Amino acid sequence: PFALYRSLRDESPVLFDAQRQAWNVFRYDDVQRVLSDHHVFSSQLAGSRGPGQGGLFASSLISTDPPRHRQLRSLVTQAFTPRAVDALAPRITEISDELLGRAAAAGEMDLIDDFAYPLPVIVIAELMGIPPEDRDRFRRWSDVVVSQTRAGAPAPAAGHSEAQEEMGHYFLDMIEHRRSDPGEDLISRLLAAQIEGEHLSVPELLGFCALLLVAGNETTTNLLGNAVLTFLERPHLVERLRADGDALPAAVEEVLRFRSPVQSMYRIAAQDVTLSGQQIPAGARLVAWIGSANHDERQFPAPEEFDIDRTPNRHLAFGQGIHFCLGAPLARLEARIALTALLRGLPGLALRSAEDLTRMDSSIVYGLKHLPVAWATT
Ligand code: HEM
Repeated sequence: PFALYRSLRDESPVLFDAQRQAWNVFRYDDVQRVLSDHHVFSSQLAGSRGPGQGGLFASSLISTDPPRHRQLRSLVTQAFTPRAVDALAPRITEISDELLGRAAAAGEMDLIDDFAYPLPVIVIAELMGIPPEDRDRFRRWSDVVVSQTRAGAPAPAAGHSEAQEEMGHYFLDMIEHRRSDPGEDLISRLLAAQIEGEHLSVPELLGFCALLLVAGNETTTNLLGNAVLTFLERPHLVERLRADGDALPAAVEEVLRFRSPVQSMYRIAAQDVTLSGQQIPAGARLVAWIGSANHDERQFPAPEEFDIDRTPNRHLAFGQGIHFCLGAPLARLEARIALTALLRGLPGLALRSAEDLTRMDSSIVYGLKHLPVAWATT
């Protein structure tokens, strides 16, 4: 989509799509404003109307405005601080080594199915106290929820609501289970939590579960897949990363900019507003194109070059402002551990066939369905 974004940034940076009834915003400065100015651009109104954000997600963090947003977010920030997340490093390393150990002798795997998908699911499932055996179900649900979302589409496609309903029932059971037998996990803590003397509502609890399991997994899977693809396309870079582990964090940030797992987010204008000279009326739907902002030449010199030495690299891949991704420290840590293990543990790692690369069928999520890779076995 990157060539298209470029011409849109130049020629129609704020473009109304009549069919989808949405204003599409393409330039960095405008996208940044839409994401971070929560007084003007409401997530709550968008949550009740946007595909993929309605239904189960309607009462979740990502679909609320202050003051409720602040109250809900404060219940989970502790679990996701860089310090809290760093404590998970040994377990993430163990899971990553286990997945690679299982595949190593074969000399080939589908990087998505065999590694990038299971890793974040197992991590978050353990954090939430959910049996990891159930992960295939999450995958089916999140595939349906994600693949049928089109930025700006007025209504989600068929299959979408059934998947959400199944997921809802599953989480309801989970919640009841934890209520009668609480543990140290996140769901148990959310059940015990109170805001101004009141427990969270059932839709809010469901929203948390769905958001953490679907939004957090799919995106991390795609970050890993996009990183491996981007690295393997550049053999010199692989050499450099193998030799210098300290270069990896910057490389991960550049993947987040260059191939952002989340390409777009929604808002609703809470009042009349002007962006790049274009007047937008109160009540209008907006699509903020993160994927385009991250390639805006007004912010990033030579944006189509993958350059891990880029400084500053103020990409918007995790959003900005009060809704800034809660899981960013976790996603970054998982990426560093997983990519180090892949680069060090699989000598001669290479793409098996460039033709088998299949992109996900979504304009919101940017990633690969499959990524066949091979390596040398001894
Ligand atoms: C919010 C991207 C991983 C949980 C967001 C937003 C973006 C994003 C763009 C902002 C949405 C908005 O402004 O409306 C990503 C990417 C990830 C990732 C690219 C991986 C590479 C995760 C993980 C978790 C997570 C691993 C959880 C474990 C959340 C939550 C929010 C959020 C709960 C809502 C925060 C709020 O509304 O206050 N993410 N995310 N994300 N993300 Fe992530």
